Parts: sequence; structure tokens; C-alpha cells
Amino acid sequence: MKPLVWLPFDTSDLGDLPDSLTYQVVLPGQTQPHPQGAESVEFYVLPYTFADVDTALLGELPALQVVQTQTAGVDHVWPYLPPGVTLCNGRGIHDASTAELALTLTLASLRGIPEFVRAAANGEWSHQWRPALADQSVLILGYGQIGAAIEARLKPFEVSEVVRVARTKRDGVHSFHELPELLPKADIVIVVVPQTAETVGLVDANFLNAMRRGALLVNVSRGPVVRTDHLLEALAQKHIWAALDVVDPEPLPQDHPLWEAPQCLISPHVGGATAAMLPRSRHLIREQLWRYSRGEDLQNVMSNAY
Ligand SMILES: NC(=O)c1ccc[n+]([C@@H]2O[C@H](COP(=O)([O-])OP(=O)(O)OC[C@H]3O[C@@H](n4cnc5c(N)ncnc54)[C@H](OP(=O)(O)O)[C@@H]3O)[C@@H](O)[C@H]2O)c1
Repeated sequence: MKPLVWLPFDTSDLGDLPDSLTYQVVLPGQTQPHPQGAESVEFYVLPYTFADVDTALLGELPALQVVQTQTAGVDHVWPYLPPGVTLCNGRGIHDASTAELALTLTLASLRGIPEFVRAAANGEWSHQWRPALADQSVLILGYGQIGAAIEARLKPFEVSEVVRVARTKRDGVHSFHELPELLPKADIVIVVVPQTAETVGLVDANFLNAMRRGALLVNVSRGPVVRTDHLLEALAQKHIWAALDVVDPEPLPQDHPLWEAPQCLISPHVGGATAAMLPRSRHLIREQLWRYSRGEDLQNVMSNAY
């Protein structure tokens, strides 16, 4: 019997695929009750959602060999991944979209677009001076694929410097242990780390207090990386500005105080959700299926080393 692949979309979207595998469409949210064939699925491409319902059955697929996500972050999958199953993420799929949103949030917040939109709704001509992105010092916390894509997009805006920070120090990249010295010098801090045991709560009161008064925090990583209670306090004191694509909790409840916090712009976790994601995702999945069928090494294999 040919190995079975579960896909969240029709194979016609993927071009030619290896004949040595069989394919079954399993749509988001349609994993309960288990679709037919659950006992023989070897390769499961998760839908582009963070819904537990689709990851919760991973432990109930006895033939499972590979889980492929379309997300770059896999924090929502680790808790359900059975031992011995290979996890591949969507690294690369979201670089352009997420970097573009990081820049959009940065520019919108600096130039006052949310205030102008609110003023326009009341027919108000709200002229004001604002900071520019030009000549600002930008710190990128999490200088990986997306961090590098953000830097590439910042450069044409004539920023004074880009300070790169990652987990491990290397040429041109600082370690996050140096943050206490680096944070007070940055005008803008863009956070794009994965959610790990080490990064949950990394942006806490100490971090926020170390930021310059009037500096901008942009979060396109994961909500729990920032302590929401500490951020609310920093915003209430108008110590910093914030532009957040991800928050904790998600979705943010209608009555959550973050909606009303001053100097805070929120988008609803849409960093990767653009038309640019689809062809990149399809390309990666097709490539992975060919590799799997040939017994070759897969791309984007994740290790839970954090
Ligand atoms: N908002 C959205 O919709 C959206 C879309 C896509 C991705 N994301 C988030 O963005 C994250 C990054 O994606 P990516 O593709 O750029 O991943 P990546 O290429 O793996 O890069 C992650 C970077 O974060 C660094 N890092 C890890 N732990 C750190 C720590 N404690 N302090 C400082 N830096 C740390 C890593 O450092 P080393 O290189 O030293 O290990 C690496 O440079 C994803 O995990 C996901 O959570 C969000």
C-alpha cells in the first residue's frame, strides 16, 4: 500500500506530485471524528491555523512519520508531537509578508496613522509632528530568516543603524544576554523570536523599563513573549509606544484593556496572512513531498533544543 499524505487543500494546487504516495484532503477543523485512513497517514500537512483541534489528533495516527506546518512558529504543535515523529516548519514561507507587516506597523505607529484614521472618522484635520523612521536606531530581537528580511526592508528608509540580536552571539549579531546594554540605545525594538521556554515573558517590566522613553516596541513574534500586564503598565505611563501583531491572549477579548491602552496599535495576528504566503507554501510542500518519496533529507526539520 502506498504511504498516505494528508493535505489541507486539493493536490491540483501543488503541480505534479510523486505517484508513489497517495493523497487525501483533510480540511481545517475536519479531524474530529477522524477521517477515513487515519490509521495509515504518514505525512500530515497541517492547515494554516493555530487550532488545537487539528494538532490534537497527532498522537492518534499510528503510522505518522512527518508533520509539516505552514507556520514558522511551532510552539502550538510541540505539545502534541509524538516521540519519533519529524516536525518540519514553514520557515521561509512568511518572510516577505511578516517583514512587510513589521515595517507597516513601525511606519504606521511612528507617523500616527491610527490617530489620523480616528480623527478622519470625526471629520477632524489633525495636523501634528511625528517621529520619522529615517535616522532611527532599530534593534531586531530574533535575527533569523524574518529578522534579516526586516533589515533588508529597513535599509532603504535611511535608519541610522540596525542592531541585530539573536540567541547566540556571532559576527555582527549580539546575544540576547547583551540586551540590558543595547535596549536603552534603541529607538525602535522589533521582536521576532520564536516562542520558547527562554523567550516567554522575555519582554517584561525590566525589558520595557530599559527601553528609551518614547521608544517603539513592535511585536511580530508570539503574544506570550511580551508580558501583557507589564506592557499595559508601560503604556499607561506613556513610557513607550507599541505596535503589536501578536498579543496574549489571542484572540484579544472585546473588553480587554489593551484595546484601550494609549500609544498602542494592534493588528489581529496577520503577519503571514497574505497572498504572498500561498505560492511559497505550495512550493515548500511540493518539494518536501518529492524529498519524502525519494527518501531524501527534508527541509526545515525542527529540533526541540531550546
Ligand atoms: N506574526 C506572524 O504572523 C508571524 C509570522 C511568521 C513567523 N512569526 C514568528 O516569528 C518567529 C521567527 O521566525 P523565523 O522564520 O525568522 O525563525 P528563525 O529563522 O528560526 O529565526 C529565529 C531567530 O530568533 C532567535 N532567537 C531564538 N531565541 C532567542 C532568544 N532567547 N533571544 C534572542 N533571539 C532568539 C534565533 O537565534 P539563533 O539564530 O541564535 O538561534 C534566530 O535568529 C517564528 O517562530 C514565529 O513565532 C510570526
